[in-house]
Amino acid sequence: AQTVSRDEHGVVTVGGVDVKALAEEHGTPAYVLDESDFRARARAWRTAFGADADVFYAGKAFLSRAVVRWLHEEGLNLDVCSGGELATALSAGMPADRIALHGNNKSTQEIERAIRAGVGRIVLDSFQEIVRVAHIAQSLGKRQRVQIRITVGVEAHTHEFIATAHEDQKFGIPLAGGQAAEAVRRALKLDGLELIGIHSHIGSQIFDMSGFEVAAHRVVGLLKAIRDEHGVELPEIDLGGGLGIAYTSADDPREPHEIAKALTEIVTRECEAARLRTPRISVEPGRAIVGPTAFTLYEVGTVKPLDGLRTYVSVDGGMSDNIRTALYDAEYSVALVSRTSDAPPMLARVVGKHCESGDIVVKDAFLPGDLAPGDLIAVPATGAYCRSMASNYNHVPRPPVVVVADGASRVIVRRETEEDLLRLDVG
Ligand code: LLP
Repeated sequence: AQTVSRDEHGVVTVGGVDVKALAEEHGTPAYVLDESDFRARARAWRTAFGADADVFYAGKAFLSRAVVRWLHEEGLNLDVCSGGELATALSAGMPADRIALHGNNKSTQEIERAIRAGVGRIVLDSFQEIVRVAHIAQSLGKRQRVQIRITVGVEAHTHEFIATAHEDQKFGIPLAGGQAAEAVRRALKLDGLELIGIHSHIGSQIFDMSGFEVAAHRVVGLLKAIRDEHGVELPEIDLGGGLGIAYTSADDPREPHEIAKALTEIVTRECEAARLRTPRISVEPGRAIVGPTAFTLYEVGTVKPLDGLRTYVSVDGGMSDNIRTALYDAEYSVALVSRTSDAPPMLARVVGKHCESGDIVVKDAFLPGDLAPGDLIAVPATGAYCRSMASNYNHVPRPPVVVVADGASRVIVRRETEEDLLRLDVG
């Protein structure tokens, strides 16, 4: 967990730095990320899966050059899903063979760049892409290692927008109707491709392991069908990411070693039953590594009690730095971190400064009844999909990512300025 404590005045300290000092030095809003927590989580995943498996951190959750260096040092691999993420990974020195390229509509340029760089694998998402990647590889005189992403038909218990294994959505090739088997048939015929495995990602923010078990069962079923038809045993399977984290005290996440044990056991068991060599397993956690390592620090600007309803607490950011509440009805908690208060709690809603009534950061929260302008409040578990999905709605510059470690803070992604925004406006 983050190394968080409170001093005798109620001021919260994280990674040895107090939040008032952070706000003074870096301004608000700011994402405050605890480096040792990030490294510990990355290491826990790495250790849990051991030498016979690979952990690919999903860069979409949050990616910066510092993050890439930490991952490299901690022995993780990296999943990227765009040219921009690939560029960030390469520029920070991640060896290309430890990078996987994802995406349901990779551009020709992205594919070409990835193959030239020598990425360890490209995950193929459609029949057209199988041919496209094969042609590009061949034209570059290369044979690209690839996996085929399939949809196994699992209904993951999560928000519709982040569930990805049922059939009626854009990712992957359905196992149903023999489509995945047909994709394998085509990929095996193409000289530009070396088919190394099958990929399945069932969704995100999932707590129930049964979806992964069904997915593993079906992926192994496909491996067996491939062996029976082609006499080929594919050496790898990737079971994706999607492990849930605690946003509020109601969530009860699994630990990496429990997940590793469950996944390894089921794959081994299924393979033994099918008399297959157990493939090398890989996983792609994003949120489970970076999510809990950061909180967003906001300053309260206005406090507006609405009689008989609740109190609206406006902060200096909002949906531009955390779209998840508006987009997925996500739940967050919030705490006053710059002082203590004995005032009775009030039912509050933490809202942003944007011109939209859906601009909500924390929908229902109890905060001290004496909350006032100038107070600092923190929203935990904003490390994943907050900075990476941040926008400039209302021309609000995006907040910095400030890292705390060993009693000091440093900026790894600086705050955007109005000049940054104006630089793009060339009309
Ligand atoms: N692998 C693949 C192929 C994925 O598509 C994703 C997430 C991951 C791994 C990582 O999933 P994680 O372990 O972070 O749950 N913006 C949404 C989440 C979308 C995730 C998309 N793919 C959110 O804020 O909840």
